[in-house]
Amino acid sequence: MKTLSVGLPGNEYDIVIGRGMLDGVGHMLRDLAGSGEPAAVVTDENVWRAHGEKFSASLSDAGVDFERVILPPGEANKSMSGLSGLYEAFSGMELSRRGLIVAFGGGVVGDLCGFAAATWKRGVGYAQVPTTLLAQVDSSVGGKTAINLAYGKNLAGAFYQPKLVAIDPDTLSTLPAREFRSGMAEVIKYGAIYSEGLFETLTGDAPSPRDLSDAIYECCSIKSGIVARDERDFGERMLLNFGHTLGHAIEKKSGFDRYRHGEAVAFGMILAAGIGERMGLSAPGTSDVLRKALEAYGLETEYPGETGDLIPILKSDKKSEGNGVRMVFLKCIGESFTRPVSFAEIQNALEAGSAE
Ligand code: NAD
Ligand code: GLY
Repeated sequence: MKTLSVGLPGNEYDIVIGRGMLDGVGHMLRDLAGSGEPAAVVTDENVWRAHGEKFSASLSDAGVDFERVILPPGEANKSMSGLSGLYEAFSGMELSRRGLIVAFGGGVVGDLCGFAAATWKRGVGYAQVPTTLLAQVDSSVGGKTAINLAYGKNLAGAFYQPKLVAIDPDTLSTLPAREFRSGMAEVIKYGAIYSEGLFETLTGDAPSPRDLSDAIYECCSIKSGIVARDERDFGERMLLNFGHTLGHAIEKKSGFDRYRHGEAVAFGMILAAGIGERMGLSAPGTSDVLRKALEAYGLETEYPGETGDLIPILKSDKKSEGNGVRMVFLKCIGESFTRPVSFAEIQNALEAGSAE
């Protein structure tokens, strides 16, 4: 079992990573739960079916009294109605400000619970027990919580840090292959932006979901350092958005249900790396190396849509400024930086890429 610390002054917390840790997680949660009232465990049907029995046993063995809220799976939970359903459940169990919410699931459960925790009675403690690869390497760490609104994704949210992130990589053994691939896009992203060493370990023999503990640890280590230095995403944290500006545009263009988040980010990373090379910002050949790594995990890398259609969507992105947007580029694999680029520069570079 390995522990990392997120060193946010006044909001420090641990990320504990260990195979088989679900068996002992109850003891860790018991120390966080207020005495005399049940913890609220929020999960989804797939996660509970696969791991609920073990999780329940772990909580019961540790003497944690808890009530479950089991949601149907899917992004639709990250909504006003999903949030309101949680408030109703918390109200029913009389969850006080000293209580504890436990998010047991993927990024959807984690983002929704985090926002509910930030707002229930003006803030109650919560813990993340992530069960998808994407959530274990990214969404459970760093305190970005949100729901989607009719106007766009993640528009209502808060920075609200959990009290603990407890990661059992063995839970990934039941993850559908497509969800595993989607998470691998984020793992490859960490190598591409920050760690050539991690990138190289990923491009050797592809690890199975069971052998990912080291990669998960390294991703969490990179993210916890970045979050501690730039919690509110004004500087270094933006590097974590490599591939996301164009990836989000692709998700929006395709109605949010065609691609998993990581699949869209994979397209976005390849497009951004290509733009970087054509603008002389990235070492020649960077996008080819990245492409091979993504394809080794079965991710598609050629966005099949019209890239020109993405420009109007970029213009309405919450991060666009004036006639452009700050994008993340790779100097080379393992090194990244942000730079403002105009929409015209993006369009020209994308057109040049399509013509090649
Ligand atoms: P998800 O939570 O929808 O989970 C994907 C699917 O896997 C679901 O059907 C779920 O039921 C199932 N599942 C989860 N764990 C399982 C397991 N161990 N075994 C079997 N099935 C399992 O999706 P996700 O990819 O984890 O998260 C996507 C969400 O994360 C998006 O809403 C995205 O916006 C958000 N996100 C947030 C951040 C952040 O920093 N807060 C970062 C990246 C993504
Ligand atoms: N997922 C990007 C971030 O947490 O900043």
